[in-house]
Amino acid sequence: MNLIKIFFTFLIFSFLSCSDSNKYLIKSPDEKVKLTFKVEDGRAFYKVDKLNRSVTNWSRLGMVLGDGKDLGEGLKVYKTSKKKISNKWFPIIGEKNEVNDNYTKLSISLVKESTKYDIIFRVYDDGIAFKYTIPNQNSIKNYDIDNEYSQFNLSSKDSAWWIPAFSYRRYEFLYANSSVNEISKKYFSENVENISYDSLGIDAAHTPLTVKKENGLLISIHEANLIDYSSMTLAPKGEGILEVELYPWSDGTKVKLDKKINSPWRFIQIADNSSDLIDSDIILNLNEDPDIDQDYSWVKPGKYMGVWWEMIGTNESTWWQSENHGANNKKVKYYLDFASKHNFNGLLVEGWNKGWHPEWCCSGDGNPFSFTESVDDFDIEYLSEYGNSKGVNLVGHHETGGQIQNYELQMEDAFKMYNRLGVKNIKTGYVNDVSKNIRVLNDNGIISEEWHHGQFMVKHFQKVIEMAAKYKLNIITHEPIKDTGLRRKYPNFISREGAKGQEFNGFSSNGINHATDLPFTRLLSGPMDYTPGIFQLKNFRFDSPGSDKIDKNAVVPSTITKELALYVVYYSPMQMAADLPKHYEKHPEAFEFIKDVPVEWSERKIINSKISEFITIARKDKYSDNWYMGGISDERERNFTIDLTFLEKNQKYNFRIFKDTKSTHWESNPMEYEIEEKVIKIDSNSSLSIHLAPGGGFAVEMIKI
Ligand code: NOJ
Ligand code: CA
Repeated sequence: MNLIKIFFTFLIFSFLSCSDSNKYLIKSPDEKVKLTFKVEDGRAFYKVDKLNRSVTNWSRLGMVLGDGKDLGEGLKVYKTSKKKISNKWFPIIGEKNEVNDNYTKLSISLVKESTKYDIIFRVYDDGIAFKYTIPNQNSIKNYDIDNEYSQFNLSSKDSAWWIPAFSYRRYEFLYANSSVNEISKKYFSENVENISYDSLGIDAAHTPLTVKKENGLLISIHEANLIDYSSMTLAPKGEGILEVELYPWSDGTKVKLDKKINSPWRFIQIADNSSDLIDSDIILNLNEDPDIDQDYSWVKPGKYMGVWWEMIGTNESTWWQSENHGANNKKVKYYLDFASKHNFNGLLVEGWNKGWHPEWCCSGDGNPFSFTESVDDFDIEYLSEYGNSKGVNLVGHHETGGQIQNYELQMEDAFKMYNRLGVKNIKTGYVNDVSKNIRVLNDNGIISEEWHHGQFMVKHFQKVIEMAAKYKLNIITHEPIKDTGLRRKYPNFISREGAKGQEFNGFSSNGINHATDLPFTRLLSGPMDYTPGIFQLKNFRFDSPGSDKIDKNAVVPSTITKELALYVVYYSPMQMAADLPKHYEKHPEAFEFIKDVPVEWSERKIINSKISEFITIARKDKYSDNWYMGGISDERERNFTIDLTFLEKNQKYNFRIFKDTKSTHWESNPMEYEIEEKVIKIDSNSSLSIHLAPGGGFAVEMIKI
């Protein structure tokens, strides 16, 4: 395993620089980001600046424990230390071969009466982070957390891209863009989607939350290393202040802990521009390498197809048994042949198991699913063996409907079975609308309803990932807990949904401007199973399974070249080719790009971007000297001149360019594209001119010759 770590620590003997005796200041390695900590009137605060621009004003820290002990008041600093860390590590899979991890660390030990705790800060060139650690000690009777005070004190003029927390559809929303003070269900209902009937919970936003500051800085607030804690949301408190609000348990406790507290990292990514915001590894740097005795060499990225879009998109088939049941032997065999012919690694088949019926969705009330029994027209033994013999492993599917106890009871048997059948990846799902609707039956026969993003579910996802590793299985979670960088330690948490993905374009629409919001928001947290690659963008959806009437109004808001670009722009180590074989057969050359594009990379270059409007990313294949590039635009038409000097000078590359034509348009003419092929020898002036249609994109393969 390639886990050699280069690690240097410098203890700073010239003690902390303090402008006055109550303030402690540390700077990032490049000295541009400055974090100051102080205790004033017994309360702890931090503040962050980048050169002469403010990131946060004085922002409060602390928490209240389950025994009522208020660790936000009456505090004194009794010890501090500062270190400079210079580190480099090598991801098992990822967007880069090596990651630099350089930061300055400040540990503040606080005391409240006889209770001691630490706040640890890290200051990177591209952001800051802090966390709380409270060791086991006699003065604490109860380690539960009733409240966390952590604040991000921004300015009222700062605007955020956000999705509502405490709302029924988990993370599956379009983004609102408003002042940080306006984060509310009311604003969202008036400007994005009506969620006003969603009365549970408070006004708050999920993280990552992206903010454009009035001073021009771009920041993203998120958490890293979320394990055995409840997930953090950000609630507006007026005057630009956002305060951490943790998802509570059904009894109101925010976090339940036994002996000590080790909170996730709360962090702010700080960038001068939108490209730098994306080109950051801070979330992974705030996580750990796998345990030394854990071998993850079996985790293999890849590409998969699925008996899926015909249920959710084209509406030709059903998940449940019917005369139009998708998961039948004949059809699955046909897909396996097609996937094998085109070198895919996996085939997802949904609706293979017992428990599906027309009313399965979305209340958590349906019949419990079985995860070990297949339906009569799906011969799992035969099909898995047939697929394995042709190099295509079935991608397992576990839709839990949010019935966690039903799933946990069967999980080990189900994983064992999949492992025996040669399955390498399982897509899991947690559709249960009304997000405070995870029902848990306790030992006294009482059912509680937990939030989808509270500590109960954080612990569940952890159990799944650890059990899956035992059976050498990767997990692709839909309706997941958000990504907090755990993929560094648990590489088999290979991808997840966790946003409004392509599926909504099948049965409704994400509109034309969502795809360019994602890179600057959700994707900052990690890989997404967006399921790109839809080629039949119009006239694809039937009125009902079995009907031959096409819904003329259904449109996937994209162009074919934009669908190709997404394989480079949206990173995911397991990438789906989501459309049907018959649609790929109509565009064999564009399909070649999907077959060729790698899923593992050694370098990432953000070529151009403007937040939520456009972005171009180039990536280098991990196993060759070839590069791939993808660019996407919002509803606007664009002309880019792309600087090619990131390629090797004096080397020749064969360029294969997939681009929109002058008459391509996402709405009226989305499936027209042209392919240009040429050899370019790179010199210091090399560039490429590209036209992007309204709502379009482009994709380029650059093969070194
Ligand atoms: C929602 C998932 O996002 C989708 O991909 C899946 O097909 C359905 N749930 C059914 O499990
Ligand atoms: Ca979903």
